[in-house]
Amino acid sequence: MRYVVIMAGGSGTRLWPLSRKGTPKQLLKLISGQSLLQLAYERASRVVPPERIVVVTGEAYLDAVARELPALPAENLLGEPEGRDSLNACAWPAAVLLRRDPDAVIAQLTADHVIEPVDAFAGALDQAFTIAESSPDVLVTLGVVPTSAHTGYGYLQRGEPLADHPGACAVANFKEKPPLATAAMYVTSGDYWWNAGMFVWRASTFLEQLRLLEPTTYADIMTLADHPGRLAEIFPTLTKISVDYAILEPVAHGKASARVVAVPLGVDWRDVGGFASLGELLPSDSDDNASNALIQTLDATNNIVLDHSGSGQLIALLGVSDLVIVQTPDAILVATKDQAEKVKALVAKIAESA
Ligand code: GDD
Ligand code: MG
Repeated sequence: MRYVVIMAGGSGTRLWPLSRKGTPKQLLKLISGQSLLQLAYERASRVVPPERIVVVTGEAYLDAVARELPALPAENLLGEPEGRDSLNACAWPAAVLLRRDPDAVIAQLTADHVIEPVDAFAGALDQAFTIAESSPDVLVTLGVVPTSAHTGYGYLQRGEPLADHPGACAVANFKEKPPLATAAMYVTSGDYWWNAGMFVWRASTFLEQLRLLEPTTYADIMTLADHPGRLAEIFPTLTKISVDYAILEPVAHGKASARVVAVPLGVDWRDVGGFASLGELLPSDSDDNASNALIQTLDATNNIVLDHSGSGQLIALLGVSDLVIVQTPDAILVATKDQAEKVKALVAKIAESA
């Protein structure tokens, strides 16, 4: 049967002061009063019923997630004692679902993407499910036509088209987060897609690749699935690595037993990783000031202004450009756009002096 696993990990410190320890990125009400997690759950609900949606998140966020997703059955909410990166956020749910259903086919989705329109997304997922159901030896990934040489993404080289699955193809090369020059070459070649970071696979196929490539993690994860009481002991010892490096890259390079294939995700897709991508989602004025706040400007261009303070205060900009300004009830950030990605380092400094 078909399942959806939503990965909702990560602290999202790149969006400070919006995101905090208690309120990570995926729980922020960023878009029309809904959190990214709620949007991800709604997308999942289009393809499977609530009893077949699983959310994997940090233990600290379990209560908040349960409040946000009241329809989610308690046994489908998995809390990690600490984040061990996406490999384990894939492997643990896969093992849990395999024990419930040996034929489980999983769409492993993310909670930090904004995707429109949802119908086209559901269509691409359906195609990916059909491929994974019909071939026991594939890992399906969703691909997006690249618009820049972004170095924070994985890149898929399109190989042979798949018979019977229009648009889908074999993946001849998978390169996670290439250096800029390589990414630029890939984009120019026209042969590559971005990896959307969303996958569809049979639980059994995925776990077999894990067994071949990361045997220790495989053994620990299967032990955990059979002995849930050992979570606090086992989980923190798991190797911290992303599923892209640990599984997708080596499988695409023939180092295990499956193949990687890609299905095109013909939608507007955005990884809300930092302020720049968040700004693109906001309405902007004729001077490219993107904002969800009450603003007034004079000679101010290309700024991002976010008000999550609930105060409704006017924010007035005079003669400034390329800034990120974020207001919350207890902290205000003013940064230049080109340095805004460094907010993580600033948060570390604040934590030190607290
Ligand atoms: N539960 C849980 N626990 N989820 C996690 C953890 C964890 O420890 N670590 C990461 N995740 C979730 C994140 O919340 C996100 O939804 C997803 O796994 C991917 O992790 P990111 O850290 O955001 O990865 P990335 O953006 O650098 O790269 C991935 O996504 C890109 C597209 O956005 C890769 O798959 C790239 O190849 C891809 O291009
Ligand atoms: Mg991401």
